[in-house]
Order: sequence, then structure tokens, then C-alpha cells
Amino acid sequence: MTATRVLTGITTSGTPHLGNYVGAIRPALAASRAPGVESFYFLADYHALVKVTEPARVQRSTLEIAAAWLACGLDPAKVWFYRQSDIPEIPELTWLLTCVAGKGLLNRAHAYKAAVDRNRGEGGDDDAGINAGLFMYPVLMAADILLFNANKVPVGRDQVQHIEMARDFAQRFNHLYGNHFVLPEAVIEEQVATLPGLDGRKMSKSYDNTIPLFAPREQLKKLIYSIVTDSREPGQPKDTEGSALFQLYQAFAGAEETGAMRKAFADGIGWGDAKQKLFERVDAEVAPLRERYEALIAHPETIEQQLRDGARRLRERYATVRMQALRAAVGLRDLAMRVQAASEKKASAAPPAVFKQYREADGRFYFKLVEGERVLLQSTGFDSPKDAGARVAMLKRGTFDQGAADVGIGEGVAIEEVHAALAALLAAEASKT
Ligand code: TRP
Repeated sequence: MTATRVLTGITTSGTPHLGNYVGAIRPALAASRAPGVESFYFLADYHALVKVTEPARVQRSTLEIAAAWLACGLDPAKVWFYRQSDIPEIPELTWLLTCVAGKGLLNRAHAYKAAVDRNRGEGGDDDAGINAGLFMYPVLMAADILLFNANKVPVGRDQVQHIEMARDFAQRFNHLYGNHFVLPEAVIEEQVATLPGLDGRKMSKSYDNTIPLFAPREQLKKLIYSIVTDSREPGQPKDTEGSALFQLYQAFAGAEETGAMRKAFADGIGWGDAKQKLFERVDAEVAPLRERYEALIAHPETIEQQLRDGARRLRERYATVRMQALRAAVGLRDLAMRVQAASEKKASAAPPAVFKQYREADGRFYFKLVEGERVLLQSTGFDSPKDAGARVAMLKRGTFDQGAADVGIGEGVAIEEVHAALAALLAAEASKT
């Protein structure tokens, strides 16, 4: 079985805060320890340039974010850890994708559209003050993902549209040049809390309400004491619902401690005491990480080395050959290489999918839909070959229902690929008669 590839990019435009830790770093590192997963974590420094024009800030942020992930337990020997700008194949692929990306689709990207709407609201020119980097942002992001054929991309809701665009570019490219790209899927981390900030709104750099992950102890304490609360006195019962303080506590405490805090709220704990408890809880988790972070950040040259090494190995393993294949696919080729234009499409396009029926050692009858090496659909066992055959016939007539209990989608396969394969089978059948 091939591993599922999970890929995450972190824009290097700020200082890591508790919200990043709880919402991204902690869950990502936990997920990377699951078996059958190949993880890719990278510092999206090209993306940072869209917003940040202070070179020192880009550099500082890259160092801080790299050190933060390492301090929190990322092991560069076990996961791919690299800096986007160390992989020249990413901007190279960006151009190939730019040439299949629909401009109209990019016009509808949320971040770009919001900027245009702001301009219109102010009565200005649509594109006033908007750089083309903002417009092309989704294409660069698609290149990050598609270069490594990532299957899953854990993202916040605001990024889901970007993954859909990556799928769209991938499909267009596949359609024109053969089946080179796996269609990535967004994984929205529903259960991962978005952490409230000091003012109770979502913790975010843009609201200026963050608590830096590695603030020195005294500063952490001061910030936690500045969290907004209501005016209830000690002894008065307090609501956990809608309390930023409680939500922060919950993000760091186990079930039992959270239960005890819930009770303390009901019993009228004073805000000062609650803040002290929160501070102690956060500090208990962060203190050992902070110590590692400080040791790491004191040696930027070591982190630099690790990042370069990661990129070098990753290029060797995947990026270089992959980009060669993609260049050849679009016609950027050795002039001496011979291809017959007419047969090209056939040669590069995916082999047609076929249904294969077989019997297993358990005596039951199975089928799968395969396209070359890939298994698109896999059935459960049927009692007789006739039952299995009838189910195949049904699939051949029409489409596949994702909720079906007796047939499942193959590992890393997108539902669109299944629909496309079934549609192609139907078309081939129709053209015979
Ligand atoms: N746009 C993402 C964000 O702001 C960062 C990012 C860049 C990314 N490239 C990516 C995320 C590729 C996932 C995959 O959060």
C-alpha cells in the first residue's frame, strides 16, 4: 500500500501564536505520527511576499516558524520539512499551471475578490493597489500541492476554495497532457478549536489579539491577565459558554481538569484566580517547548542547514524527476526526442479503466475498477459471480453513488476520477454500437 501524502504550508509572515499551536502545529504533528502517512511541512515564503514587503520580517518569521515546529517535536528525519523557495520546481510548475488556470476562476478567488470589493466600495479602480501575486496566489499554492501529488491537505475553512482550484487546474492539465496529477482533497479540521484571542474574537494576527507561543513567562502571564472577561465578582457564578478564558483553558487541559474548571466557574471562581490557573496550565505545556525553542533559535545556521538538507533530499527523491516528466508532457523537450504527434494523446493519457472480477480465498466474489496500476473502486464480497456481475453492470450503466455500502473508493482516489472513468466506459460502449 502506498502512503497517503499529507501536505501543509505555513506562510512566513508572522510570529507563531497559541492559536497556530492549538489549531495547526499540535494536531499536524500528532497526525504525522499515524501509520501509512507521508507528511510534508513547508515554509511558504513565496506566499509571504504577497503581503509582506519587509525583508527582515520574512527572514525572521521563517526562522521563528521553523524553530517553533522543531521545538514542538517535528522530526526532519521522519517528515519532509523544507522551505518553498529552496525548491525551484515549485515556481517552475507554477508557470505550467498558470497556463491552464482559468483567469475567470482566479477572478472569483475570495481573497482577490474581497480586495476588489473593497476598492469598489471606496469608489476606486477595481485593481487599485492589488499586486498580481495576490491574484496568482492560488496557482502557486496548487503547485505546492500538485508537485508532490499530495492526497490530503489539512486547511482552515478559508483555504478550501484554494484546494478546489488546485483540483480544477490538475484536472485541466490531466485532460490536456495525460494523467499526471492526483486530485488533492481538503481536510477541514472540524474538531480542532479555533482559539479565541485576548478580546474574545478568533486569535489572529490581523486582530492584533494574539498570545505569542513562545512569549517569555512574565509576558505570557501579563497577556493572559489581560484577557477580556465580564464584570462578575468573585462568588458570582460565571458562564463557560462564550468565555474566551474557559475556551483557552479547555484547549490546554484534559477532560478532568476542564470539568473541574467548569465547576469552579459555576461556584463563582474569581477572574483573577481563573487567570492564574489558565496561566499555569498553558505554561506547564509550553515551558519545555520554549526552552527548546530558545536553544534552537540561538543557532539559525543549524536550522538553515536542516531546511536545505530537507529540500535537497526532497528534490532528489521527487521534485526533479517529476518536473522533468511535466516539462516533457507539455512539450518542453529535448529536440532530438521523437514523438508522433498523433499517437501522443493516446500514449500519455490514462489507460482506460476496466472492471476486473475475481474470487478470493474466502470463497466470495469481488470486483474492482482499475486504471493502470490504480484501483479506483473496490467491492466487498458477493455471494455469487452473478450478483457481482449485476453490480458491475449497474455501475457501467451510470454513475457511482459515494454512499454505497458494497463498493468503496480506492485509497487516494477522488470521486471525480471515478465519475470520469465510468463516463469514459459508457462513452466507449456507446461508440461501439
Ligand atoms: N495559503 C495557506 C495559508 O495561508 C498557506 C499555504 C501555502 C498552503 N501553500 C500551501 C497550505 C499549500 C496548504 C498547502 O494558510
